[in-house]
Amino acid sequence: MQKEIYLAAGCFWGAEHFFKQIDGVTLTQVGFANGHTANPTYQEVYTDTTGFAEAVRLQYDPLRVSLPFLLQMYFKAVDPTSLNQQGEDRGTRYRTGIYFADPDDLPFINLAMAQEAPKYGLPLCVEVGPLLNFFPAEDYHQDYLAKNPDGYCHLPVALFEYARNNRDTLTQQKSQQYALLLKQFAALADGETDLQALMANAAALIHEAFHFWWTGFYRVVGDELLLGPFQGPVACMHIGFGKGVCGTAWQQRRTQLVPDVEAFPGHIACSAASRSEIVVPVVKGGQVVAVLDIDSQHLAAFDHCDRHFLETFVGLLPG
Ligand code: SME
Repeated sequence: MQKEIYLAAGCFWGAEHFFKQIDGVTLTQVGFANGHTANPTYQEVYTDTTGFAEAVRLQYDPLRVSLPFLLQMYFKAVDPTSLNQQGEDRGTRYRTGIYFADPDDLPFINLAMAQEAPKYGLPLCVEVGPLLNFFPAEDYHQDYLAKNPDGYCHLPVALFEYARNNRDTLTQQKSQQYALLLKQFAALADGETDLQALMANAAALIHEAFHFWWTGFYRVVGDELLLGPFQGPVACMHIGFGKGVCGTAWQQRRTQLVPDVEAFPGHIACSAASRSEIVVPVVKGGQVVAVLDIDSQHLAAFDHCDRHFLETFVGLLPG
């Protein structure tokens, strides 16, 4: 599985060299993002009239590195309070920006920005928005610092070492743990036909492994979700179609990743301690029959790594 994010961090020569050192980044490409012409050349972008930002396209394996980790690294490489200037490079083409191709990434980016801002006491100038367009730069710009080790770079060399030496160990350990859980659950599910019995053991297995705040299922019963097998504190028993995160997962038939429950309109607070959550619909025979809901006391506890493994997990439930 691969995901993508587009990061503008000043001159793309140094930025690409920095991001490509991070374990889990599988591909980088430099180019021009979010401008208003087509197929721009470097010389055209250099005039600063095309609206493009120099940017790095990052492809990454979310089972090895999370978006929040990549954004933490991003903030190590930029001055987010500097408008249209990084190092000595000035112009709108050198603006900072985080451009997403997947709308599910936006709440993670908003949270990372909100966590970064208090460190400065000044408003952040980083532009956040969807990727509108991206044109790869000419070949000689690709991997520029690998081809020209003495070439110009606005970033300190020590930063490259920092990127090489800091892995997203949390995500990598989590992936290993999930892989083991999946094997254990596949053994439990083998030959078992009772959905509720397996939901009960699924909740227990996940909860014991990760010590989340609340792990459990809501079953679709008539026109509502009814509390099913769970581990954790007492919870709401009835949730309507389209209501809260659970009802939204049912309605949209897709996993909901909520890094900050307070930023999710209509979130149902069964417990004030819950700060982030993931809800995965259980689809059997083309119908949503239940949802798996996991809550954490920590912000951004769940990301695309959890989504991948938990979707596989519920796929093992009997139909
Ligand atoms: N927070 C959920 C409600 C279920 S409890 O968290 C267990 C929601 O908004 O759907």
